Amino acid sequence: MLSFLSKQEKGWVGIDIGSSSIKMVALSRRGKGLRLDSYAIVPLPSSAVIDSSIQDTAQVAEAVEKGLKICGGGLTTCVAAVPSSAVITKTIQLNSAFTDFELEEQVKLEADRFIPYPLNEIALDFEVLGPVEGSPELNDILLVACRRDDVEMREDALNSSGLKCEVVDVDRFASERVVSLLEKGDEREDRLVGLVDIGASTLTLNVFKDGNIVYDREQAFGGNDLSNLIHQQSGLEAGEVEHLLRNDELSDELKQNVVLPFRSTVSQQVSRSLQFFYSSGPHNELSKLYILGGVAAIEGLAAQMQAEVGVEVEVANPFAGMDLASKINAGRLSQDAPTLVKACGLALRSFEG
Ligand SMILES: Nc1ncnc2c1ncn2[C@@H]1O[C@H](COP(=O)(O)OP(=O)(O)OP(=O)(O)O)[C@@H](O)[C@H]1O
Ligand SMILES: [Mg+2]
Repeated sequence: MLSFLSKQEKGWVGIDIGSSSIKMVALSRRGKGLRLDSYAIVPLPSSAVIDSSIQDTAQVAEAVEKGLKICGGGLTTCVAAVPSSAVITKTIQLNSAFTDFELEEQVKLEADRFIPYPLNEIALDFEVLGPVEGSPELNDILLVACRRDDVEMREDALNSSGLKCEVVDVDRFASERVVSLLEKGDEREDRLVGLVDIGASTLTLNVFKDGNIVYDREQAFGGNDLSNLIHQQSGLEAGEVEHLLRNDELSDELKQNVVLPFRSTVSQQVSRSLQFFYSSGPHNELSKLYILGGVAAIEGLAAQMQAEVGVEVEVANPFAGMDLASKINAGRLSQDAPTLVKACGLALRSFEG
């Protein structure tokens, strides 16, 4: 076979730093297809990341090092993200004849006006979106700003694990990439698609219209509530509870008495979150709702939620159309896929221009 035809383009490893664990996904591209090369989920001590903010870079770096070992080496560069809630975005319009230098200066001036922190404390970036409709002399420019600390803590943790952090992205851009991947082949206009991430401590609802985010809401709710209930009922230690949950090894009694009622609570929380969305403006009904995050792995959750919210609900699996490296166990991956969605969205950043 001619080797250049199957040339492999190795991506950066996508790293999702959650409050309960680190998720890592390494993809490569062959022609138009994608391959999952490796992935890892490494638990974090509860003091390492609180409210999406890194408290202890050494603990995070240690977890990333463990993840790199699980992934099997050869990974040198990565992409991580700051949470959308830590970021301020604004679209402004600037003269399309500006040079890059002029553009940067204008962006700083504009940012100084709308960001409530001194410029030297923020990390600022921008993207030229294209000409303004009806005014080709102007370009729409997307400004993205967050506290410098939020970016630097991530870079520090990742650099001290030996990786080079190529890009610090924003969560919601990772979600946008995942939605286009999940919705490939179903790109009807005006399609409203929801993405619900239910992690250990946070539930996030994002809604996308034609692939662009139109709604973003976070609330404090997640799998920690379930773990605490199991701990109270059984006396099992937190680490043990996580292990049993992730491997579907809880006793039938705990499943019946704790997981099932929690599953109903999750459906109700998501239903309430959707009500907030519908009441935020004149929106059509969602065409589909994808669930992701560790809690999305609860058996039967999608079906129960679908009955509760009246919209088609599916557990997100971004790897469905991908080749898998031979060392990856497909059964294990289908359990892990919802937890890996955000890390996958970050890894996809590798293949953008
Ligand atoms: N099979 C399962 N059934 C129920 N809960 C599960 C299962 N597997 C994992 N969980 C729960 O999912 C949570 C972890 O999910 P995830 O890794 O998405 O969270 P995180 O990204 O660390 O947290 P956050 O995004 O809130 O900061 C834990 O609370 C864990 O108990
Ligand atoms: Mg998470």
